[in-house]
Amino acid sequence: MASQQIDFDNLGFNYIKTDYRYLSYWKEGDWDDGALVTDNQLHISEGSTALHYGQQCFEGLKAYRCKDGSINIFRPDQNALRMQRSCSRLLMPLVPVEVFVEACRKVVQANEHFIPPYGSGGALYLRPFLIGVGHNIGVKTATEFLFSIYCVPVGDYFKGGLTPHQFLVSDYDRAAPNGTGAIKTGGNYAASLAPSAEAKQRQFTDCIYLDSLTHSKIEEVGSANFFAITEENEFITPGSSSVLPGITLSSLKDIAQSSLGMEVIEGDIFIDDLGKYKEAGACGTAAVITPIGCIEYQDNFHIFHSLKSVGPVTQRLYRELTGIQSGDIEAPGEWIVKV
Ligand code: PLP
Ligand code: COI
Repeated sequence: MASQQIDFDNLGFNYIKTDYRYLSYWKEGDWDDGALVTDNQLHISEGSTALHYGQQCFEGLKAYRCKDGSINIFRPDQNALRMQRSCSRLLMPLVPVEVFVEACRKVVQANEHFIPPYGSGGALYLRPFLIGVGHNIGVKTATEFLFSIYCVPVGDYFKGGLTPHQFLVSDYDRAAPNGTGAIKTGGNYAASLAPSAEAKQRQFTDCIYLDSLTHSKIEEVGSANFFAITEENEFITPGSSSVLPGITLSSLKDIAQSSLGMEVIEGDIFIDDLGKYKEAGACGTAAVITPIGCIEYQDNFHIFHSLKSVGPVTQRLYRELTGIQSGDIEAPGEWIVKV
């Protein structure tokens, strides 16, 4: 689609073909030089391990148009590092952090006119992925790999954005202790398709997963992390090794502590004890901060702040985070990479 035809003020989270994507191959122990290409179709072996055994991982990050017209990419080095952890777990070759970050910059620059304007609420979503390819049949690591980054202009992931959303606690498990919950691999998301569809069919925004060992503690949303604000004004998030370590969450922890002066806790959030929390939210690159108005669990319906309005702490966190991302508020440390 030509960028002039895009209604940037009303974007959802849908595939739009942009002009260029980065593509690099790994063969015989080394990555090639990588290049921007226009073809949005991959030609890979039918035996690719990514297709049969889920040997693949991906990332998600965003580029923002600032008020002065410049372009910010938010914490790409953190996505590079997380992808390295995913690759290590799945026996795939690592992409050096500098190569990853430079490839992101190239993709953003080449697709600059697809970046939603400042103030539209949208961003250019980058989707890096690394997959096992090459001719294969047995369950073993691939002999060849492909690393690519494409991008799509996006708006809200959960329709309605910064409004209270209703979530359903799922009976399904997303990830096992010592499994792959903490890495960003497709299998985790395949496992979440049916539970998520069930929740949406029942008019919920999405579902929340409990820890699969005891089914008593909140873990995450399946496409975003969970946080809550206690009556004592602490920022709490589940401390679990099967949750994806979110870059948005990590940033919110810093913001809560340094800008809002809050205490930050990683701990247990028991599903039977939600009365302790005055606000809750889902956070992630796609989800940004999606306020959680209520959670349904086994016929119990727990309302946090309100079903109609967003709590004041959630609002402040949102303002700080999105202000930093779009360049209105000075970013701490190395959070912003300019294109
Ligand atoms: N948890 C899951 C399962 C996710 O898919 C995501 C999104 O990437 C997150 C949490 C949030 O991570 P981040 O803030 O790095 O996007
Ligand atoms: C992200 O927020 O980047 C995600 O990957 C979540 C979802 C789109 C899978």
